[in-house]
Amino acid sequence: MILRKLYLLYTSFFSSKLVLFFILFILTTELLLTDLLLPVTHDDIKSGAFSSLNDHIVSSKLCDPRVKQYSGYLNIAPDANMFFWFFESRKNPKNSPLTIWLSGGPGYSSMFALFQEVGPCKVKRNMNKSRLAANSWNEVTNLLFIDQPIGAGFSYGARMVNTSEQAALDVYEFLQRFFTMFPKYASLDLHLFSESYGGHYVPAIAKLIIQNNNLIKAGKIKDIIPINLKSCGIGSAWVDPIIQMRSYVNFAENNTYKPLLGPQLIEAMRDTWILCKYNIDECYKTNTKQACIAANITCWEGYNGIFTQNSDAGLYDIRTKNDIPVPIYTKYLENPFVLESIGVNPTVITKYLEFNEEIYFRFTDSGDLYVIFKKESF
Ligand SMILES: *[C@@H]1O[C@H](CO)[C@@H](O)[C@H](O)[C@H]1NC(C)=O
Ligand SMILES: *[C@@H]1O[C@H](CO)[C@@H](O)[C@H](O)[C@H]1NC(C)=O
Ligand SMILES: *[C@@H]1O[C@H](CO)[C@@H](O)[C@H](O)[C@H]1NC(C)=O
Ligand SMILES: *[C@@H]1O[C@H](CO)[C@@H](O)[C@H](O)[C@H]1NC(C)=O
Repeated sequence: MILRKLYLLYTSFFSSKLVLFFILFILTTELLLTDLLLPVTHDDIKSGAFSSLNDHIVSSKLCDPRVKQYSGYLNIAPDANMFFWFFESRKNPKNSPLTIWLSGGPGYSSMFALFQEVGPCKVKRNMNKSRLAANSWNEVTNLLFIDQPIGAGFSYGARMVNTSEQAALDVYEFLQRFFTMFPKYASLDLHLFSESYGGHYVPAIAKLIIQNNNLIKAGKIKDIIPINLKSCGIGSAWVDPIIQMRSYVNFAENNTYKPLLGPQLIEAMRDTWILCKYNIDECYKTNTKQACIAANITCWEGYNGIFTQNSDAGLYDIRTKNDIPVPIYTKYLENPFVLESIGVNPTVITKYLEFNEEIYFRFTDSGDLYVIFKKESF
């Protein structure tokens, strides 16, 4: 059920024929490129002790064994361990930029993006093996996946953030720790990419980076590493709830395939939209928790509830009634050797969780979903 509620907050690149064509093209190219299957072996494992206060970093040969890689945890606060998986660029890493990828949600693991979207390997057929992905972004950039906020994916600890601005502080702290640990990557051009709820994360993180860079330049803060942010990118971004929420009813009524609701329910959605929009406006104007929670209630339970309770259209393909099948990569991340190889703490993480809905609910309960993150209002 939760997935149904999340429709549109979560990424979809699968929404048009053009994109479908593109994906088929990618799949074909990938099959042609290489069939190198990389089995998991004991040699991949090089781990040390775990602690809730210390970093734990390993360098495995999984996924993309031809490049230098690091994964594991950086401790960003007492009992707050943020998981990452870093791959050097396949070409000229010293002169490539650094690109960070964050999954959305809030609450999705960035391992989803690593294996299903932009990362260096795919898991197919045999669930204990991976093979190189031809069009991984690390063809041209050093690539860093971070599981954030704490509690998403393999990250763990007592720290619980409730808003995008709090999450940005933690990512910032992570970057400070990462660049301290790996100073050679700190001077590279940095590109910050995300999707879906990244429409909140990316502006919040970028704003913090720019503010702190200015303070560093003005000599107002010391012992902080300036971050060389050059660009931001967000796919399927959740950035302006008024525009995006309003489009739900239009899409239900009028899309390329068929109306998703009958005329009376469309009418009911248009009626409830009035209050939903009023509340989002208030949330934009006042930016108070109270106003934004009010929007959360009237927009989901009222307006959007009419859709979710009455339509059985597939989340990612409205021509069907199917949800997306559980992807094979999650099985790969259930293999204890894989987890040990990439430095996952086995005493805390007993099973890979693609989406941690507790995080999602913490963000909805703070009203964060309805805050606008566009320049003029942010
Ligand atoms: C994958 O590896 C795990 C751990 O070694 C093993 O239990 C499981 O049977 C393997 N699965 C396949 C399909 O080989
Ligand atoms: C988030 O909310 C929880 C529950 O209200 C609270 O315990 C926690 O301290 C909050 N986190 C932050 C970073 O303020
Ligand atoms: C349906 O959408 C198309 C494309 O946006 C638009 O041209 C058309 O006017 C819409 N029809 C109705 C009835 O809203
Ligand atoms: C906000 O909306 C979500 C659905 O996205 C719902 O699960 C949650 O209970 C709502 N929270 C509040 C405080 O209304």
